[in-house]
Amino acid sequence: MNSSFEAHFSAMSTRLEGDDSPVWAVHDEALERQSNGEDVYLLSVGDPDLATLPTTIRAAIDSLEKGRTHYAPGRGELGLREIIADIELRASGKPCDPDEVVIYPGATNAIYSVLACLLDTGDDIVVMEPMYVGYDGIFKSLALNKIGVPLDVDSGFTFDLASVKAAVTDTTRLVFINTPGNPAGNIIPAAKLQELAAFCLERNIWLVCDEVYSMITFDGEHISLRKAAQSLDNVIIVDGMSKSHAMTGWRLGWTVAPEKVADRLLAFTSSTIFGCCQFVQDAAAHALVNDEEYINGVREEYRQRRNYVCERVGGILGLSCDVPAAGMFVMIHVDLAGTNGLAFAENLLAEQGVSVLPGIGFGDCTEHYVRVSLAQPITILRPAFDRIEAYCEGQA
Ligand SMILES: Cc1ncc(COP(=O)(O)O)c(C=O)c1O
Repeated sequence: MNSSFEAHFSAMSTRLEGDDSPVWAVHDEALERQSNGEDVYLLSVGDPDLATLPTTIRAAIDSLEKGRTHYAPGRGELGLREIIADIELRASGKPCDPDEVVIYPGATNAIYSVLACLLDTGDDIVVMEPMYVGYDGIFKSLALNKIGVPLDVDSGFTFDLASVKAAVTDTTRLVFINTPGNPAGNIIPAAKLQELAAFCLERNIWLVCDEVYSMITFDGEHISLRKAAQSLDNVIIVDGMSKSHAMTGWRLGWTVAPEKVADRLLAFTSSTIFGCCQFVQDAAAHALVNDEEYINGVREEYRQRRNYVCERVGGILGLSCDVPAAGMFVMIHVDLAGTNGLAFAENLLAEQGVSVLPGIGFGDCTEHYVRVSLAQPITILRPAFDRIEAYCEGQA
C-alpha cells in the first residue's frame, strides 16, 4: 500500500549520505567484478589478510564459556585498562593511570568520541594530508571544518611543523595527527612531536594523535606523542588492535587521555556504546601480554611485502615511490603522460583487473599518486605487479 509518509532525516545523516568519492568507486567496482567471479587483484583494502593469534581466539572462546557475555564497565574492563596503562608507561616513561584509559569498539569510534567531546559544530580541525579517508565521515558527521596541511610530498612525506603552526588560528581548538601515518607510512620524529605539543599547549589547543600503526614500524621507531610531549594536559592518543594484531573484525580500540577528559568520554560512551563485549576485551588482554613473537612476525611479513612492492615499483617506467618507514601501505607516484592517480586506477582496473586507491582521496597533494595495500601476500603481489608493469608498458 502506498503511503504519503515523507521521510525526514537529520542534517547530520544528510551530510553523511552517499559517498560519491571516485576513490571508492574503483574499489567497489573491483569488489563487484571479483564477486562475479572475475580474476581481479584487490590491492585497495587495508584489512590485514593475516590471522589473529590463535591463542587470542582460544582466550575469547574460554571467556565466552565462562559466561563473560554481560554488560561491561563503561570505561572498559579494569584488567585490560591496567595492561594498556602499563604499555603506555613503558612506551612513554610517564605514569599512566588505568582511569586515563577508555575502551571502545575500534579506533574509529574512539576518534569519533574524542572529537564529539572536544569540539563543536563548525569548529576548525587542523589535520595532515594525505589523510586516512575514514576521518572524513567523522568530520562530516560532526560538521567540523577540516583545515588540511600537506605533508612535504617531495621529501618523503615529512611532517612540516612550520605549515602546521601557520594553519593554526585564534579559533583553532584542536590539531589532529596520525603517526605512523596512513597512507604515507611516515613517522613524525620525536623532536617535532615535542615542539608541536609545546606549541599546542601554549596556544591552549588539544593535540590528538592516532597511533594505530604504532607496532608496524620498519625503519626507525615509533615515538608516542605521550613520550614526546612534556605536559600531557592537552594530549590524547588513540590506538587499537585492528592492524597490529590483525583484529579488524573484533572491534577493539582505546584512548589515553587526562582523567578529566576520560570522564567526559565515559559520559559520552555511556549513551552511545554502553560498554564493549567482555569476551573481546578478555581476548584483547590476552593478546597484549602474549604478542611479542606474533608482532615481530607481523612486522617482518609487512617489511618483506613493502620491500617487494618498492623493488617492483623501482623497475617500472613511469612509477616511483618513497620507501615507507612504517604502516601497511605504499604510495606510488604516477608519472605517465596525460594521467593522474584517479585515471591510472580506473584504467588499471579496466584493462588489467588490479584495484589500487587513487591518491586524490587522501588529499589534493597526492592527486598524482595511488595507494597500494600490503594486506596481500607476495604470492598475490607478484602477479598483481606483473599486470601493473604490463599496463605501464602499454602506456609508454
Ligand atoms: C589511521 C587509521 N586510524 C584508524 C583506523 C580504523 O581503526 P579501527 O579498525 O580500530 O576502527 C584505520 C583503519 O584503516 C586507520 O588507517
